[in-house]
Amino acid sequence: MRRLDAAAVERELSRLGASLGTPLAVAAETASTNDDARSAAAAGAPHGAAFLADAQTQGRGRGGRSWHSPPGENLYLSVVLRPGLPASSVAPIALVMGLAVASVVERRLASAARRRREPSLDDGPAAEVRLKWPNDVLVGGRKLAGILVEAQLRGDAVSSVIVGVGLNVHASSFPPELSARATSLAMLGIDDVPRELLAAELLQALGDAAARFEAGRLAPFAEDLARLDWLRGRRVDVAGVTGVAAGIDPEGHLLIHGADGVLRAVAAGEVSVIAG
Ligand code: BTN
Repeated sequence: MRRLDAAAVERELSRLGASLGTPLAVAAETASTNDDARSAAAAGAPHGAAFLADAQTQGRGRGGRSWHSPPGENLYLSVVLRPGLPASSVAPIALVMGLAVASVVERRLASAARRRREPSLDDGPAAEVRLKWPNDVLVGGRKLAGILVEAQLRGDAVSSVIVGVGLNVHASSFPPELSARATSLAMLGIDDVPRELLAAELLQALGDAAARFEAGRLAPFAEDLARLDWLRGRRVDVAGVTGVAAGIDPEGHLLIHGADGVLRAVAAGEVSVIAG
């Protein structure tokens, strides 16, 4: 089993000119890289400080769930952002971070398809990268990456935003409770990209997306949000609001078209997709 090589991540970061990833800490094992990033931010870590671990013992997902974090297989990465934004406008950054991760996955799938000389990525639904609001990255309907965004506020100001990304890379199987819903790059036919390079590509994409969000909020992302929206047209329930998902509004809220004809905007919550 190959351990994560910190020097290789640093080399790739500087080759790509990534704006995030300095300083970089790489642990063999930690409880949660989001916790590491949060403590470092509280102690004054700068914008861009990044935390990677080969394994997590208490990897966390949204809604208090745990995140499957075995050693040697996947990427567990958290970064400290210090956006110059008021607290009232920071929430949609979670969506934008999802788009950034999706863009790295799309590029990797496209280059693997080119190497196999497939004419395009649209050969079949199995290759489709989608974003499930707010920020799950799905390929072929299965979850490839999850993102946990935690903001620390000081009054009306944002003191820091911790963005944690879990990307399934080499995993060839998952525990039974995940196996029907999860996938990995290896399962999608990509098993030749080192985790170090993927980590650098993620940090580059997250940094670019954070800068664009700071400058233009969600407007520069509107097209990608619509293009990648996995929920659109599906029947959903978010905290008791039910109906058909009808896109994402300019504030990043999920639009739900109820059976009563009313279009409601939901700011946050766990989405259940209603079968049938
Ligand atoms: C989700 O889909 O529920 C979010 C999962 C986020 C997992 C990542 S792994 C790196 C970072 N550290 C954590 O404890 N969680 C995030």
